[in-house]
Amino acid sequence: MEYYEINGGRRLVGEVVVHGAKNSVLPLLCATALADGVSVLHNCPSLSDVEASIAILRHLGCRVTREGTTVTVDASCLSRSDVPDVLMREMRSSIIFLGAILARTGEADVSMPGGCELGPRPIDLHLSALRKLGAGIEQRGGRLRCTGGTALCGAEITLTLPSVGATENIMLCACAAEGVTVICNAAREPEIVDLARFLRAMGAHIQGEGSGTVRIEGGRGKLHGCEHRVIGDRIVCATYLSAVACAGGEASLTGVEPEQLAAVTGVLRDAGAEILATAPDALTIRRDRPLDGGVVVRTSPYPGFPTDAQPVVMAALCNARRSSLFVETMFENRYRHVDELRRMGADIRVEDRVAVVGGTETGLRGAAVEAHDLRGGGALCVAALGAAGTTILTGLAHIRRGYASLPEDLRALGADITLHTEQN
Ligand code: EPZ
Repeated sequence: MEYYEINGGRRLVGEVVVHGAKNSVLPLLCATALADGVSVLHNCPSLSDVEASIAILRHLGCRVTREGTTVTVDASCLSRSDVPDVLMREMRSSIIFLGAILARTGEADVSMPGGCELGPRPIDLHLSALRKLGAGIEQRGGRLRCTGGTALCGAEITLTLPSVGATENIMLCACAAEGVTVICNAAREPEIVDLARFLRAMGAHIQGEGSGTVRIEGGRGKLHGCEHRVIGDRIVCATYLSAVACAGGEASLTGVEPEQLAAVTGVLRDAGAEILATAPDALTIRRDRPLDGGVVVRTSPYPGFPTDAQPVVMAALCNARRSSLFVETMFENRYRHVDELRRMGADIRVEDRVAVVGGTETGLRGAAVEAHDLRGGGALCVAALGAAGTTILTGLAHIRRGYASLPEDLRALGADITLHTEQN
């Protein structure tokens, strides 16, 4: 068994460089499959989801190497268009390979993706959009067999909701579709902007990323490899900000754009933390007096408050004096950390999508808890750092999907966190 032992109640002080964004690097790795050449990605975090994407690229015939945080993908030798079920199940974003493989080879044979269990996560928007571009998609025996990729045609596609993954799949596939594709109600997340920049560096013609309308002029020749630096992970940064807000202290976080965290820093400031953007890629947070709380957090697509930051900010607010209210609008089942936080003394009531986090006079206390999903794991770490006594945290495989160096980074801030590995 593996677990973190966290002795909480220490102020967190110091500086951390936030690693590259999981939710950027995954679609970027899919995009490397479009190039008839070599792509180099810098600032690639060492995460199990990244390794899963690399395994898919290798299965497709690409040559992939890693040196530190630089991953090099030679997709000139890509020779297959299928992804085995066992690789598809590793993570949700395996579905983004669908658009990329279809665009590159003209066909694709994949299965339904895996990922964190946050409630139903349909892919209807992905499939209807690819059909609109001219793909034939047949669903049989759990497999998705796609054809028609050599005769794709640009189209106007209106998403009924701004799905991040569907926007990415369309952007990749549309690079090979003759003519103009316009995505209306496209996702506006920074990771979409990063993908558009990468595709442009590969020779694609894309405009409008970061707005609700993305325009792709496709089919204008082969894409080539390029070199790119992945943006910093805003959710990892939100986790460390929440840790300092929960435990108290003063920290500087670099490698992320403060603007991309505006919704999170706004809430933490309203709750009583002092946060400043000190450089184009740095933030400082300071929390000396007890956290006040008293905030309302409603998750929504970017630039709204990110659903991925809801668990970690909730954990910090469990240590505040006054109550706060959360409304989770994106996923049905994203309060799985709540029962675990209750074990640590948190006073949280949940009714459907609403959670009321009561204030605490006595503060959180350490307990034995288990992560049931990635950001829930981040949340339990945050709570443990602000809790009196020792927390034993299991479920580390979830955490490794999205945090490349959680114990190391937290130790750099003075946290007492140790990884234990015990033979059963
Ligand atoms: C991305 O997931 C992120 N994952 C998630 O981060 C994040 O929570 C989510 O966007 C929302 O910001 C990656 O980027 C790899 P969506 P994605 O499609 O693309 C519904 C993390 O912790 N929907 O924007 O899967 C869906 O059910 C992870 O790092 C449909 O109904 O999210 C959800 O309610 C977890 N039909 C909403 O849209 C579809 O075809 C938003 O989902 C697609 C989505």
